[in-house]
Amino acid sequence: MTTGETFQSKAAHLYLSDSYTLPCGVAVKNRILKSAMSEQLGTVKNAPTPSLVKLYNTWANGGSGILITGNIMIDRRALGEPNNVVVESEKNFELLQAWAKAGTQNGTQLWAQINHPGKQSPRGLCSETVAPSAVPFASNLSSFFATPRAMTEAEIQEVIERFASTAEIIRNAGFTGVQIHGAHGYLVSQFLSPHHNVRTDQWGGSLANRLRFPLSIYDSIRERVGKDFPISFKLNSADFQRGGFEEDDSIAVMKALSDRGIDLIEVSGGNYERPAMSGILSDNESTKLREAYFLEFAEKARKEISAPLCVTGGFRTVNGMASPLRDNKLDFVGIARPLAMDPNYSNKLLTGEPVVVNTKPRKIGIAALDRLGLLEVYWYGLQLKRIARGKSPRPNESGIAAFVNILLSSSSRTIYTRLRA
Ligand SMILES: Cc1cc2nc3c(=O)[nH]c(=O)nc-3n(C[C@H](O)[C@H](O)[C@H](O)COP(=O)(O)O)c2cc1C
Repeated sequence: MTTGETFQSKAAHLYLSDSYTLPCGVAVKNRILKSAMSEQLGTVKNAPTPSLVKLYNTWANGGSGILITGNIMIDRRALGEPNNVVVESEKNFELLQAWAKAGTQNGTQLWAQINHPGKQSPRGLCSETVAPSAVPFASNLSSFFATPRAMTEAEIQEVIERFASTAEIIRNAGFTGVQIHGAHGYLVSQFLSPHHNVRTDQWGGSLANRLRFPLSIYDSIRERVGKDFPISFKLNSADFQRGGFEEDDSIAVMKALSDRGIDLIEVSGGNYERPAMSGILSDNESTKLREAYFLEFAEKARKEISAPLCVTGGFRTVNGMASPLRDNKLDFVGIARPLAMDPNYSNKLLTGEPVVVNTKPRKIGIAALDRLGLLEVYWYGLQLKRIARGKSPRPNESGIAAFVNILLSSSSRTIYTRLRA
């Protein structure tokens, strides 16, 4: 990778260093957003740990303007992975405070990504899964994920309330913002998708009805955290499924959030059935993806909205990041896997130091797992655990190590049994 060419008499990397003031009035020191990476560093009882404090201490010294945490769950009965952190009360408040203190050093924004997995909770991890509708997974994934039960009206209202109360606890602990996880096929994105949401009540059917759930969550969080606290939304450009959530729907969601004054929309795409967020579609399709997979879509959306905009997925070169910032196509660039390979990556980008990280797709050769993109999450998860122990990431770590980690995780027994079936 080069240090970046000079654009309009300004060196490329300097476009990353400009500060930015969000609609809520909070200033961010630069344009680099560390995107969420599920750390799986909570305890078996889903409490935060000193390892998270150490990891965010390292990243807050790494230069990014905004650090988005890995997904924090709002309900212990609904986990996406074992060892997720759950915030549903003030029970572990001191550890949350320590985490917030570590991650906000050096004027860094630390935003907690809050999530409910809906149907995307591996079999065996929770006693049951719920979703907008009881739509089963595609046959290749139905071994890993059960068909969910459709949520009742009361359960929908409870989840909205939980998002708000989790956000309030997080704010009180010292985090400087929250992000609603509305992407990647989890509950909020299930409500948005006509493939996953076939309800006939006020929560399904028309786009206005499918939008009701995310907007209710946004409104209830805003009411609890106040107008000065950054709220972001991670949104799919599309879920890449036939009859699913498409680009026009996505732009409509962005407009609605933008009209409400959201502080930042982060664009991604895909879900476990179609893991476009990692650049994994199929062998043919992935070769078509260019650096920053969802940039073309964001350019279209940009014309329709005033909310600050970020794209995540595939950014790897200084020029690739600087040019959409220079051309005012984006306000922030989102980066995930490079920061698992080099926690100092953002500092290097900001100073124009040449940086190369190897983020090629991690595969193990078991097609069902490789297609799922799950190995990818566990492989990079191992690197996060190394950073949390004060060690350097290991670029040559084998896929087998990640696979063993999957087998050792508490959902493993089920996956293993299914693979052997
Ligand atoms: C280990 C790992 C964990 C992830 N966990 C989350 C998560 O909790 N929430 C989320 O929105 N995205 C998650 N992602 C997706 C990233 O935020 C990002 O969208 C994706 O990796 C593409 O960006 P990149 O090409 O810069 O890595 C995860 C990715 C990895 C590698």
